[in-house]
Amino acid sequence: MHRISGIHRNLTPRLSGIATVITPLSLAGCAGPFSTLDPAGPSAAGSAGLWWWMFTLAMLVLLAVVGLWLGAMFGAQKTGDDQQLRRIQQRWIIGGGLLLPWAAIAVLLAFGIPIGHKMLPLPLEGGEILRIDVTGHQWWWQVSYPGSGIQLRNEVHIPVGVPVDLHLTSADVVHSFWVPRLGGKLDMIPGRTNVLRLQADIADTYRGQCAEFCGLNHAHMQFTVTAHAPGDFAAWLTEASASD
Ligand code: CUA
Repeated sequence: MHRISGIHRNLTPRLSGIATVITPLSLAGCAGPFSTLDPAGPSAAGSAGLWWWMFTLAMLVLLAVVGLWLGAMFGAQKTGDDQQLRRIQQRWIIGGGLLLPWAAIAVLLAFGIPIGHKMLPLPLEGGEILRIDVTGHQWWWQVSYPGSGIQLRNEVHIPVGVPVDLHLTSADVVHSFWVPRLGGKLDMIPGRTNVLRLQADIADTYRGQCAEFCGLNHAHMQFTVTAHAPGDFAAWLTEASASD
């Protein structure tokens, strides 16, 4: 027992040293064009917020479990008659094995469902919403603006600060439309149209990636989404319609 306690004492500073090195390294991956943790619109911000809550809760659960494990390993032996010990065990199984998961899932749903609801293309109060059609091909994106005759390849242009509806379908196999900094991914299925509502709050160029394996060049099936300031978008639209 003494030997194990000694190992434990030596391990603790070493583990915290490793955590000090690993944590900034892993968080460095939180920025960048393909990071869902660097949101630039309400839908992505909702998902990122939910992720941070889940991460925090998971860390608390991990700490609690490690604490219990250390307590079981090194704590004082429980004394009492068999029946009493069995009752304590049962309490842990019901509490930790049944009640805790149910409570955790209920909390997750309570936050997750409203966030998911916001991503749905529900009718908007006050006005038309810009519609953009995107068709997936092996291995490129066909983008068109109904009514204006604009046809683009691998690039989408949107106005900043307003929601847009992307009508997604595929000409061949299943692809998936994903702009990590703007929102969740949505499958593009041949013979079906799925609608994804996105909004960018910052004028910038965002990168998108096919998120469903679709053959040899799946990894290279990328595109950009350029969010223009409102005046700039109108100018882009006029220019693009004129050149088509
Ligand atoms: Cu298209 Cu993967």
